Amino acid sequence: MRQRAVTNSNDGVGRAAGRPPFEFDLRDEAGYARWREWKLSNRIRNDEQLVVRIENIESPSDTELAAIHACIERVNLVIYDTGGQLVDKPALRRFARRFGLERLDHNLCADEDAITTLSVSRAGRKGEYIPYTDRRLNWHTDGYYNPPGREIRAILMHCERQAAEGGESHLFDHELVYLLMRDENPDWVRALMAPDAMTIPPNVVDGREIRGAVTGPVFRVEPGGRLHMRYSARTRNVIWKDDPDVRAAVAWLQSLWRSGHPWIYHFRLMPGQGILCNNVLHSRSGFRDDPETGQTRKLYRARFHDGVRAIEGIVAEGAEDAVVE
Ligand SMILES: [Fe+2]
Repeated sequence: MRQRAVTNSNDGVGRAAGRPPFEFDLRDEAGYARWREWKLSNRIRNDEQLVVRIENIESPSDTELAAIHACIERVNLVIYDTGGQLVDKPALRRFARRFGLERLDHNLCADEDAITTLSVSRAGRKGEYIPYTDRRLNWHTDGYYNPPGREIRAILMHCERQAAEGGESHLFDHELVYLLMRDENPDWVRALMAPDAMTIPPNVVDGREIRGAVTGPVFRVEPGGRLHMRYSARTRNVIWKDDPDVRAAVAWLQSLWRSGHPWIYHFRLMPGQGILCNNVLHSRSGFRDDPETGQTRKLYRARFHDGVRAIEGIVAEGAEDAVVE
């Protein structure tokens, strides 16, 4: 492991020195060109390279932490693998703290400790929401329906049990989607940055409004230059701004999901493995539980208002050593 100073931007999200400064500004052509080259040459090319083995989740070594940071620095996500270690929710909470993840989001169906247990639910409110069924889950970022100020910047998802079949996660770095769209048509990116680009209608249960309508941008640059994405590919319950560029951008994203893209990662979490990410775009295939054999999918999910933060003195190992495509 190499030791070197890590610069921290205003929002506390660290940037290893290799990454050129760029704040996703559409007017900054030179900055974009430099960042684009860095981003493409540091892209992780296959699913297996996303996996970082950690010996003990309760006490990850500096080398393991650096490897995790390297992955996140490059593609905003990592798969950690405890080798089947049984992990409880307090241990996950402590693990998340190692990455500066403190502020948990309290969503509607979360358990009392704000970490959600994801499994098939046949009863109550949970069963009404797709994450608690065995159905396919369309492309989205988490918390796209959260009001401003409650953005989800990081997610930790830990697998305790696998389904008998299916339940594969698909993950796409939202910064790479920005890059692809900007190359295709920067006006689409501009349109999706508008503060009224996307509206989620109110959530009404039994005639009672439990969440008001939420309007906001898809791409938003946060103080400190971090890119946040708020998106759902659902065609119901999403109202898009009536604007030709918004419509074209949304259609382009839908075609991306239909045709697939080689930069999408596909991963079926094994027990003891988890995803840590800066709320990248993701979807999930349908799955089949088999209660007879005990193969019933069970995941823990924690959503954070914080983004993954660099650890002082730990450099994202390998971030400068990548092969240029
Ligand atoms: Fe999600």
